[in-house]
Amino acid sequence: MQRTKITELLNTTELNRKVCAKGWVRTRRGNKHVAFIALNDGSTIHNIQIVVDIAKFGEEFLKPITTGAAICVNGLLVESQGQGQTTEIQAEEIEIYGTADPATYPLQKKGHSLEFLREIAYLRPRTNTFGAILRIRHHLAYAIHTYFDKQGFFYFHTPLITASDAEGAGSMFQVTTLDMANPPKTEEGKIDYSQDFFGRSTNLTVSGQLEGELGAMALGGIYTFGPTFRAENSNTPRHLAEFWMIEPEVAFFDINDNMNLAEDFLKFVISYALEKCKDDIEFLNNMYDNELTERLNFVLNNQFVRLTYTEGVDILEKSGKKFEFPVYWGADLQSEHERYLVEEHFKCPVILTDYPKEIKSFYMKQNEDGKTVRGMDVLFPKIGEIIGGSEREADYQKLLNRVNELQMSLDSLWWYMDTRKFGTAPHAGFGLGFERLVLFITGMTNIRDVIPFPRTPKNAEF
Ligand code: 4AD
Ligand code: MG
Repeated sequence: MQRTKITELLNTTELNRKVCAKGWVRTRRGNKHVAFIALNDGSTIHNIQIVVDIAKFGEEFLKPITTGAAICVNGLLVESQGQGQTTEIQAEEIEIYGTADPATYPLQKKGHSLEFLREIAYLRPRTNTFGAILRIRHHLAYAIHTYFDKQGFFYFHTPLITASDAEGAGSMFQVTTLDMANPPKTEEGKIDYSQDFFGRSTNLTVSGQLEGELGAMALGGIYTFGPTFRAENSNTPRHLAEFWMIEPEVAFFDINDNMNLAEDFLKFVISYALEKCKDDIEFLNNMYDNELTERLNFVLNNQFVRLTYTEGVDILEKSGKKFEFPVYWGADLQSEHERYLVEEHFKCPVILTDYPKEIKSFYMKQNEDGKTVRGMDVLFPKIGEIIGGSEREADYQKLLNRVNELQMSLDSLWWYMDTRKFGTAPHAGFGLGFERLVLFITGMTNIRDVIPFPRTPKNAEF
């Protein structure tokens, strides 16, 4: 018999027909005469109840149907007598695909801590919490593609292996096939990368932006959506060594267009999630964060406040608040500063612009004052920076001066510089950290809990 997904079985009005459900047992309870199996197949946060007449199957047969076991049930779909569910299945045939020994199955009991679940990340998608998070993650990815497609942007695939360092941060994972125990050396005694796989030193990309700009200068508007890698030793609840980033890049956009796009885009994906992920968001709201739905609606219904970095620092300095990291003009803002502005001062998402050039990347458009650049960070409640972007420096000479000031190598950047020689134009873009978005929308507080298999320092087992 053809299997029907549980989400459909729970939402249908066609009752009193034979159906087939397959899934994993969440719980089994009951009495001598009847057993109730709560079955989940991942298609929804809700379980379907399987009603089992024990006399019909025998107690011995039912014994191995414990939490975690995979089963197939054929039976009659009927209106549920019990509360809290619409339909249930009266079992006629049950096949056990696989058992899960209660003595060793790690998810035998309910209510494990998120910390413990991180240690069994290979199983945690089977919990209600991670089922909800992972379904939301999927819908958000789909929302992002939908948004850009509707806006006429093209999905542009940038390489994961690169020879350049887009952010100039210098914290990259090297990619090599050289024998690390015995690498070939040049006459000066350095590692001879000309003998490496790509004939040069390469690394995993920290951002698709530089290549994305090439796409924007041909297709007008593009976006990337792929994994990025940063080898910083940041053990925080907001950093991953491998995370997914969405980077739109648009020709003929200035920083104001860029801010408008960022705000419209974020509001679209939030409203999409509220509509498509109702049950899962409701579950997380009830279980973890009872202000979640309210917070999402608040962001949706309020204009983001826009101000300059200089104005922001001024507010922070006058706040009288004791911060762990000192705040002064020129300081890179920490998440405590960002969250003060958002959560305590404005009580609203904030877009900060015009940062000191020293704390931002080389490619940002330089302002007339010679001190600041046209960068923008979008700051969110509970998260801090969710988006970082800028208008780009389109002037060849100005960009070259900055590259030289920073003593960056033109060796791996000459092709990027060429875009400013051949049909250069104003353009802008930004990067949204996908996991930070999923954090915001799920109300989770640790970024390790919104990606199936987090990569963080000393953690890559599964
Ligand atoms: O601010 P970042 O470093 O900007 C860029 O990479 C630019 N190339 C983007 C652009 O203009 N096209 O990173 C962008 C966003 C951050 O705002 C943050 O949300 C996220 O990526 N992010 C991280 N997320 C998780 N773990 C990390 N280690 C992250 N580093 C940045
Ligand atoms: Mg940033």
